[in-house]
Amino acid sequence: MSAPSDSAFAAAYRRSLEDPQGFWGEAAAALHWFAPYDRVLDDDDAPFYRWFVGGRTNVCYNALDRHVEAGRAEQPALIYHSAMTGARRTLTYRALTDETARFAGALAAQGVEYGDRVVIYMPMVPEAVVAMLACARLGAVHSVVFGGFAAPELAARIDDCRPKLLVAASCGLEPGRTIAYHPLMTQALELAEHKPARCIVLQREEQPATLDPARDLDWHAAIADAEPVPCAEVLATDPHYILYTSGTTGQPKGIVRDTGGAVMLQWTMPNIYQSAPGERFWAASDIGWVVGHSYIVYAPLLNGNTTLMFEGKPVGTPDAAEFWRVIAEHKVSTLFTAPTALRAIKREDPDGSMLADCDLSGFRALFLAGERTDTDTLNWARERLGVPVIDHWWQTETGSAIAANCLGLGKMPIKDGSSSHPVPGWHLEVLDAEGQPRKSGEIGALAAKLPLPPGCLSGIWGAQERYFDTYLKNYPGYYETGDAGFLDEDGYVFVMARTDDVINVAGHRLATGALEEVLCGHPDVAEAAVIGVQDALKGELPLGLVVLNRGVERAVETVIEELVARIREHVGAVAAFRKAAVVARLPKTRSGKILRGTMKKIADGSDWNMPATVDDPAIFDEIAEALKSLNYPPK
Ligand code: COA
Ligand code: AMP
Repeated sequence: MSAPSDSAFAAAYRRSLEDPQGFWGEAAAALHWFAPYDRVLDDDDAPFYRWFVGGRTNVCYNALDRHVEAGRAEQPALIYHSAMTGARRTLTYRALTDETARFAGALAAQGVEYGDRVVIYMPMVPEAVVAMLACARLGAVHSVVFGGFAAPELAARIDDCRPKLLVAASCGLEPGRTIAYHPLMTQALELAEHKPARCIVLQREEQPATLDPARDLDWHAAIADAEPVPCAEVLATDPHYILYTSGTTGQPKGIVRDTGGAVMLQWTMPNIYQSAPGERFWAASDIGWVVGHSYIVYAPLLNGNTTLMFEGKPVGTPDAAEFWRVIAEHKVSTLFTAPTALRAIKREDPDGSMLADCDLSGFRALFLAGERTDTDTLNWARERLGVPVIDHWWQTETGSAIAANCLGLGKMPIKDGSSSHPVPGWHLEVLDAEGQPRKSGEIGALAAKLPLPPGCLSGIWGAQERYFDTYLKNYPGYYETGDAGFLDEDGYVFVMARTDDVINVAGHRLATGALEEVLCGHPDVAEAAVIGVQDALKGELPLGLVVLNRGVERAVETVIEELVARIREHVGAVAAFRKAAVVARLPKTRSGKILRGTMKKIADGSDWNMPATVDDPAIFDEIAEALKSLNYPPK
């Protein structure tokens, strides 16, 4: 694969593949180590690799304390901007360090120690960042659960990682409604088999919770009595956090990132984002997603930036100019968001007139990820904003970009529809079903040659075999991304689709299998298939096709209403599941595999061929009828 000519990027890319130990060893020098590592890369147990073996460090120390010691104490570390309440709060590096050290003391007072897990179920408030950093300070392992998930999803994560303690808030704020988190937490604890002894609850004035004195401790009371604690020295190979993501089944995968992964996060700030210490960096995501972990919390702080934490939506809080006002008010230089957010803004303000009143003079670059950026949205943003608009590709598993236009190593030409070139450290290939490399321009499975660079998943929590089976087994010597696409003659990456049954709704990753399990739990449902249909705003929306049990005589509309409510209750509002139709049967291969891909093509109005393995071709006419009743394909 040809990296573009003689640029700084080309040199860095080449070196990262030819001499990964030298390359990442140098990158590691940007962090503070309490004790040096013995080896940059341990490949004794391939295909399981470990970086910076024997090194002792602490992510919280590198993100906070060292900046205070180096003269950044009075610089804002975190600016909180709530479009929901109008609140603004700035925490300097000193203030954030002090609050984190005290909260770590509060956790320690409740018995949280090195290696213990702590589940964090909080909305976008600064205390969520404090809780994450405090865990890292102690060498405890946090697992943040996105607030849009329902109680059973929270319970599944509690049972999987078995936390010593939970940290929650009384409520979260969504447009037009307050979400009471505390009762959801209580419900999850009732459902879960594992019962953490204690919960620390942040009372928000918008809706305080009634605390259970036997279990709950008020955040402020906990911190008032706490002694600040210093940073523990932890191994680079110790887990830093667990973040659950959708697999192909209903059982979510606990992606484990190790402490030494901080090397990659730090490296990306100057090299991918071209962001210097002191500059303001805004990732408009949620701390419940990997983008939030990496780019609201850890990477900007590791690099000495000021990070923005935004509670609100791109539109409707109060309008489509809020993103531009945040950039102007807080002098943001780099914004990272999802294409769906831009599409929402574009829909409300197609000619970008709301930009006129906002001073974006300090704004330098917009980065997009979560799904492929469509050309319309890319052009709209580029023309209205007048800054580079960079689509970059990554996953919860990787923690940072696999492919990007690395601005800090010299901007490369942008090709619409491509997330640019693999990032240094990523030896990407396109493989056919037999694992043979395909020619440029040919679509296949996107896979990365092992070892992966630092910062990628070190495993799945408590399920090392599943880790091997999911990512390493199909193509020996490679990491299988689960995405399909191609590389062009310049080595640019075009990510086209998932190879598994994962769909992407407003940048959120959902397993169709998990939704199907919930639908099948309805007493009237015999069988269900969920497909992701194209949506102009959210990229994809889930659509259910269900077969009812023989003899069910209840009104179809009632059953569908119940199914919609059921997904909301079991998975959460974030699934945005609103559409379903009842069908007599589902199209399957002769071996019984549901042909979701063909149904999706019919729904999207794409060309499709009759699968050779289909059991009965006539079923597709019935499916097309059912989809038509839901207005698919759209006219
Ligand atoms: N807690 C509780 N509920 C939540 C929630 C949270 N943290 N986040 C979302 N929800 C709920 C919403 O209230 C909504 O409920 P509703 O069905 O009652 O309206 C549902 O989940 C879907 O939310 P959302 O995906 O935000 O869709 P929306 O229709 O409210 O807004 C967009 C559409 C495009 C504005 C919105 O999806 C968006 O901002 N997307 C950006 C996504 C993003 O940043 N992804 C991160 C990857 S980088
Ligand atoms: P998540 O783990 O939730 O971040 O989702 C990761 C998945 O989102 C990837 O495997 C891709 O399918 C998709 N994705 C993320 N960023 C991009 C992008 N820039 N282009 C295409 N797909 C993307």
